[in-house]
Amino acid sequence: MRGVLLAGGTGSRLLRLTKITNKHLLPVHDRSMVEWAVEALVAAGVSDLLLVTGGSRIGDFMQLLGDGHELGLNSLNYAVQEHAGGIAEALGLAESFAEGEAIVVMLADNIFEWSFEATIAAFSANPVGCRLVLSESDDVDHLRHLGVPEIDDQGTIRSIIEKPQDPPSSFAVTGVYCYDPDVFTIIKTLVPSGRGELEITDVNNHYVREGRAAFDVQPGFWGDAGESIAAYQSVGEFVSRHGANKAR
Ligand code: DAU
Repeated sequence: MRGVLLAGGTGSRLLRLTKITNKHLLPVHDRSMVEWAVEALVAAGVSDLLLVTGGSRIGDFMQLLGDGHELGLNSLNYAVQEHAGGIAEALGLAESFAEGEAIVVMLADNIFEWSFEATIAAFSANPVGCRLVLSESDDVDHLRHLGVPEIDDQGTIRSIIEKPQDPPSSFAVTGVYCYDPDVFTIIKTLVPSGRGELEITDVNNHYVREGRAAFDVQPGFWGDAGESIAAYQSVGEFVSRHGANKAR
């Protein structure tokens, strides 16, 4: 399956570290944050990748990643998101790259202890609707900074709430999403949220309302290294000690 890696945004939560560079170029253990995400996608079976980022640092990404061969990719393409208009807006730039096929999307600040290969394999076998990767957390304050699903007794997602004051479950929606090609039609129906962005949670809720949203719960550590300076540091410490993207 083709992959789309989203590495735009302003990185404002990691200021001052991001004053002169893109967040995804910051070091995590022995390499740049974005390289862990590329490795995760390659380990999950992606061979053709589109990286979307803001224009000002795209040359640095090209210098670092080149044509992707060194990292195990067959092809690496680049797209520019002119303004940080949201995750869903950035994904919309991948429509021609997808060529009407299903895709896997990853946020480049997410780091996983274990490969999410099983989720990609399951979606590849039946590439309809969407398939999300959840991570369990008992830290209510942390969940307030994320997308959180409400899950009923049958194990079906009823809705997803973005940054809820009162999290409806102990699961976070991580930044790995599998979509059928309808995703690009859905993105065109979105309106900007209160923070002025096209939200990926609105895309996912569209699939939820249609009863076409599946999910897996990812074992082990998951971190959003862009959430705060503290999160960035703790993700780096975890990866230094335990590694990332390991085969299960
Ligand atoms: O990390 C998981 C969380 O990511 C989910 O639980 C949330 O539901 C989801 O909305 C998202 O929340 P964040 O607040 O962490 O999103 P953030 O604005 O930090 O953007 C995450 C990544 O998306 C970032 O690494 C770069 C990319 N991005 C973001 C924006 C706003 C873009 O490529 N373009 C953009 O315009």
